[in-house]
Amino acid sequence: MNRKGSSFPAKLEARMLLCGGVSLLLASVLVCSAQGMTLDAEWENWKITHSKEYNSLGEESIRRSVWEKNMQLIEAHNQEYNLGMHSYELAMNHLGDMTTEEVAEKMTGLQVPLVREKNTTFIADEGLQKLPKAIDYRKLGYVTPVRNQGSCGSCWAFSSVGAIEGQLMKTKGKLVPLSPQNLVDCVTENDGCGGGYMTTAFDYVQKNEGIDSEEAYPYVGEDQDCAYNMSGKAAEIRGYKEVQQGSERALQVAVATAGPVSVGIDATLPSFQFYHKGVYYDHDCNKDDINHAVLAVGYGATPKGKKYWIVKNSWGEGWGNKGYILMARNRNNFCGIANLASFPIM
Ligand SMILES: *[C@@H]1O[C@H](CO)[C@@H](O)[C@H](O)[C@H]1NC(C)=O
Ligand SMILES: *[C@@H]1O[C@H](CO)[C@@H](O)[C@H](O)[C@H]1NC(C)=O
Repeated sequence: MNRKGSSFPAKLEARMLLCGGVSLLLASVLVCSAQGMTLDAEWENWKITHSKEYNSLGEESIRRSVWEKNMQLIEAHNQEYNLGMHSYELAMNHLGDMTTEEVAEKMTGLQVPLVREKNTTFIADEGLQKLPKAIDYRKLGYVTPVRNQGSCGSCWAFSSVGAIEGQLMKTKGKLVPLSPQNLVDCVTENDGCGGGYMTTAFDYVQKNEGIDSEEAYPYVGEDQDCAYNMSGKAAEIRGYKEVQQGSERALQVAVATAGPVSVGIDATLPSFQFYHKGVYYDHDCNKDDINHAVLAVGYGATPKGKKYWIVKNSWGEGWGNKGYILMARNRNNFCGIANLASFPIM
């Protein structure tokens, strides 16, 4: 840069310093985007990384402005993180050109049932004294690779197959990716890519006397006619249990004694969209607005004692921490994680 000594405007010089990361002022992010230069390059880079193509310059400019807002949010959060104000970091990812509303609309899909059957409730057995302090079913080989539901409200199907896959491993010693598409197409009580719920999916698998493997019935991320084929069957279940509503203790007992558990959460915050690592806690998360289904595959605590649930999402490995998020545990049922939890019985 050709700086002309003292004639360089002081105001601009302050900007350069801010952009160089010298200052921790939150305003620096905004100042940097006003300059544009590095942002242009970053935008081009992001588009290439995530193979983004837009139909028109108009569409691109709308997407770019959404992306810029998200960049600012991420950088502002991470500067606060560096000051010790948060327990988790954010990062730009493939959802960078989407607003939180769009993500909620296209990539969640949990429809909360109006009534829950009382006879399936799993209540924590208080006689059970010793639970493991931590458990991670990924390390025990109960968890298949992270997948991506795409633009289809099929979170409930991914959550359901995840829980069944865990039981299949537990009872038969086989880890087999099962077919969320089978559920999207065949669970008539649910609405396919329009959304659904896990216990209705478990019900279907029980009554259908089976669910196909992913290999036999691959995911396409669109509603199709039901094409279940018994010759592709990889698992059966005998029923399911719903965890006592709102009880993180019951959820812990369920995870520790049964295996991975399907859970519903509020996933509509930008902090969730761009979560990267650490223990996620955002006081705006609304436990009374559950909209996304995921899979609790374990729990634990950091060396400093921050307790968490280990949660598998279905937004690809590029989201979160290789597809996973650690969510605050025993913090007043954070994001409603214990409100709609269930697991199949094999
Ligand atoms: C719960 O009770 C209802 C009504 O009695 C019954 O139809 C249903 O099959 C029961 N569910 C389970 C999982 O036992
Ligand atoms: C089910 O799968 C088998 C084996 O792939 C195939 O031969 C059969 O035609 C399929 N049945 C239907 C109804 O698609």
